[in-house]
Amino acid sequence: MRTPIDPIALLENKKIVLGVTGSIAAYKTADLASTLAQAGALVDVILTEAAARFVTPLTFQSVTGRPARTDMWAASAETHVAHVSLGERADLLLIAPATAETIAKMAQGLADNLLTVTALATRCPVLVAPAMDGAMFEHPATQANLRTLEARGVTILGPAEGRMASGLMGRGRLLEPDALLGHVRLALARGGPLAGRRVVVSAGGTQEPLDPVRFISNRSSGKQGYALAQAALDRGAQVTLVTGPTALPVPVGAGVVSVQTTGQMAEAVLAACAEADVLLMAAAVADFRPARVAEHKLKKSAVPEIQLEKTVDILSAVAEARVRSPEHRPAVVVGFAAESQHLRENAQEKVLLKRLDLIAANDISAKDAGFSVDTNRVTLIDSAGGVEELPLMTKAQVAAVVLSRVEKLLAVKGC
Ligand code: CTP
Repeated sequence: MRTPIDPIALLENKKIVLGVTGSIAAYKTADLASTLAQAGALVDVILTEAAARFVTPLTFQSVTGRPARTDMWAASAETHVAHVSLGERADLLLIAPATAETIAKMAQGLADNLLTVTALATRCPVLVAPAMDGAMFEHPATQANLRTLEARGVTILGPAEGRMASGLMGRGRLLEPDALLGHVRLALARGGPLAGRRVVVSAGGTQEPLDPVRFISNRSSGKQGYALAQAALDRGAQVTLVTGPTALPVPVGAGVVSVQTTGQMAEAVLAACAEADVLLMAAAVADFRPARVAEHKLKKSAVPEIQLEKTVDILSAVAEARVRSPEHRPAVVVGFAAESQHLRENAQEKVLLKRLDLIAANDISAKDAGFSVDTNRVTLIDSAGGVEELPLMTKAQVAAVVLSRVEKLLAVKGC
């Protein structure tokens, strides 16, 4: 069963015009329309005549709860002015899938159906996600048309490589709905409260090798860190995500540095912090590593004694770097504490020891919070000793609260 979509604050009541043109990939857009509507956006769908042969307006109407339009000449007075009003009111126009024909019409400024008329009339950001046969995409005419649109400020999304309706492999596949959603968020987040800010987020668990096939790690899924990266992107920040190995999709727009060990994570975080305004250290960093990494696979014939040594404490290293050169330290540093007992006391100690502005502590012994699950119950403790106990929330909601606190901290510090 598909999990219901959480409301996304950035999308709440945003007027999104979704243009659908005649490609088999149109069915994927129904999924996107549904996600956008569930997340809180007001989605007005315009189908070209060809699109309506693949997916009916009723499908879109059902998932968006709003009329889906096709015909510019339909009888009602409302439709008569729709091209102007839809375009005027829109916060964003996304055309997905966009056929070679619609792209060509847009490049020429043609306005012969409700969608192309709207595209010409609107002044909102326009995103175009092409979907077509690989040869059509590569044709110089299509390429020239896409360049023309780009030069006018239109954002072209994809297309992706892969298998196409023809059965052939090539570049021309519509981006998947999740990726399109990420691009919509990125476009709407422009100019948000953290625009111009650089935010570094660490996520996931680190792995410390024992031999070429084994490692010591922890149960971190990376979900909280990835949610923080998305929340920072939703506020318009420039995000660097330093991540241990996870299976999670990278939020659209984040720069990614993939690492395995604590040493590699330390190096990547310190490098990224040199230019950052904010560090959100959500990674579950391995505290110990094998003192010696075997060059060859350890054989079971001799059970090994494993000697461990301490790894570097990344947050302490960040704090030391600041002592050396204060201008190199993020203005705001947030830690995350995983505790199984004495949550407040231990977390408070970490705020002092690691010189944090804020720590988000969670009780990992609770079944509905912490590792792997989608929810978290977090206590926020700041450097002045202020304590805020949050109720059980999704990790996306926790991330939103943390980012709101970060905004306030930046303001208080006058940065
Ligand atoms: N952390 C770090 N470097 C480490 C270990 C942890 O930067 N080597 C960071 C974590 O990313 C987190 C914070 O320190 O933001 C607290 O991590 P936690 O595991 O709760 O605490 P530890 O410092 O490891 O202490 P302990 O395991 O004794 O609770």
